[in-house]
Amino acid sequence: MLVLGLETSCDETGVALYDSEQGLLADALFSQIDLHRVYGGVVPELASRDHVKRMLPLIRQVLGEAGRDASQIDAVAYTAGPGLVGALLVGASCAQALALAWGVPAVGVHHMEGHLLAPMLEAQPPAFPFVALLVSGGHTQLVRVDGIGQYELLGESVDDAAGEAFDKTAKLMGLRYPGGPEIALLAERGTPGRFLFPRPMTDRPGLDFSFSGLKTFTLNTWQQCRAAGDESEQTRCDIALAFQQAVVDTLTIKCRRALKQTGLKSLVIAGGVSANQSLRQSLEKMLADLQGRVFYARPRFCTDNGAMIAYAGCQRLLAGQHDGPAITVQPRWSMETLPAI
Ligand code: KG4
Ligand code: ZN
Repeated sequence: MLVLGLETSCDETGVALYDSEQGLLADALFSQIDLHRVYGGVVPELASRDHVKRMLPLIRQVLGEAGRDASQIDAVAYTAGPGLVGALLVGASCAQALALAWGVPAVGVHHMEGHLLAPMLEAQPPAFPFVALLVSGGHTQLVRVDGIGQYELLGESVDDAAGEAFDKTAKLMGLRYPGGPEIALLAERGTPGRFLFPRPMTDRPGLDFSFSGLKTFTLNTWQQCRAAGDESEQTRCDIALAFQQAVVDTLTIKCRRALKQTGLKSLVIAGGVSANQSLRQSLEKMLADLQGRVFYARPRFCTDNGAMIAYAGCQRLLAGQHDGPAITVQPRWSMETLPAI
């Protein structure tokens, strides 16, 4: 089955062609980062308009790269939520229009299920069951995964998502959008041990997270340094490292707890923050101690992309699931409500 996947939930237009027999044939992405950077964050209306502009050229591009013709496509998968409503509607309208024109089914995919399944596109995919840490710009969740659509939420952020904490903290320190990669870059040159930031909610039981206090702690530290006349690049790097270490440690502590609680030894990390090298190293070390394994996607499939939507959609289509022709999206959507396949 040849599936065209469209991702438009936020500020990236992602398009991919996935074949159930041959795997991923082609994927293309247009990132709107430069468009939104001047505003310090995503401007929803600009995002929607840009998705309209990029979608068809990207579809032509992946068809060309895969050497396939539109007539060979068996179904269209698109991100139906969660995300920005206008941006989602562009992908949904486009997918439904193409599906109607080509006489094939369309299936709406949950964006976080897409992220969760992205490591399945790698050479050594994880086997069910596993614990998944979903860390993106909008979500921080620990989930027990027994199969596709069999999700048990173990814990989640009570305020900011991990990626959101990176983005907001970076903004407070005058860094560019998106903040995750900027902080990670500065942290590489940070002095270990100069600052020690709290590891929120690790001193009490449970698997929930809270990152908003850490953001304030970082701001206060930065302001104290500035008040003392120290706005040096090195201080920025030192603060970035302390912040990143606090996030990474907190996530690692909670992942260890989730593995212990479930008795599982496989951990999947997915979503934009799973591209963070320091997080990967910390979890790899923790899983080595437990004689388990951590799985993640290649960096470009950690952040938003069309390949994960084509893959997730294909699995649901193979199980006989698809949507009617209505153009509906769900800006807020719990993954636990998804049907099992
Ligand atoms: O999954 P994603 O592309 O979009 C959402 O679904 O939200 O995640 C984007 C988030 C942003 O907050 C970005 O700052 C963060 O992922 N991110 C990172 C890194 N790369 C992207 N955070 C930390 N380290 C990175 N290397
Ligand atoms: Zn995402």
